[in-house]
Amino acid sequence: MKLIVVENYEELSKVAAQEYANVIKENPKAVLGLATGGSPIGMYKELIKMYENKELDFSNVTTVNLDEYVGLNPEHEQSYRHFMNENLFKHINVDITKTFVPNGLAEDLAAQCKEYDEKIKELGGIDVQLLGIGNNGHIAFNEPDTELSAGTHVISLTQNTIEANARFFDNIDDVPKTAITMGVGGIMKAKKIILIASGESKAEAIKGIFSGKITTENPASMLQMHRDAVVIVDKDAAKLLNY
Ligand code: GLP
Repeated sequence: MKLIVVENYEELSKVAAQEYANVIKENPKAVLGLATGGSPIGMYKELIKMYENKELDFSNVTTVNLDEYVGLNPEHEQSYRHFMNENLFKHINVDITKTFVPNGLAEDLAAQCKEYDEKIKELGGIDVQLLGIGNNGHIAFNEPDTELSAGTHVISLTQNTIEANARFFDNIDDVPKTAITMGVGGIMKAKKIILIASGESKAEAIKGIFSGKITTENPASMLQMHRDAVVIVDKDAAKLLNY
């Protein structure tokens, strides 16, 4: 696992975007695993800049997102589909029909999860997966627990995550209680993983990634088993690491 510690969020966004750009330049048909949350917004802005400067072409990529809230309409301002459209897709030349986000409105959620994994398989797997991290070590919506699921599944969000994500909603009661998420097995199958974290609130979770111990209580600690994982953090998120 490679650790890159940078000064601040701005630098983190640039370094992460460069890692992504390298993958796309090497393989213009890459399957890009994307993430939501506050952390990737700066990186997406950098990728948009690269596209505008004609350094990057997204016309042949396919994208797959990690997760989606159950029950939110794709047009809902806090749905992850809406987030992706607003923060990235509508600013670049990606073919929107080749952007995949789990459907949180599916009548049969179990079937939707199965289809999502099949779709990823059919695409030949994910070339590079972006991850943020929750304060409690969750990746995508894989919450700390005594056991973790390998494939895409429906999960109940922890109170910690509901509280952390309440900042995006008018009222904490509006935060959905369940989500569809890619499982840790699906994430680990990605050929390359880039995890980004900024700020002191992530320091404890980041410490867990470099603890030398793998535990389901910190789902991100699984990354220690990956062959090509890059963790990019700012100084505040790296606060509890010896580097
Ligand atoms: C949500 C998302 C995760 C994300 C996490 C951290 O729960 N499902 O994919 O990593 O929030 O978000 P932020 O980057 O806003 O701290």
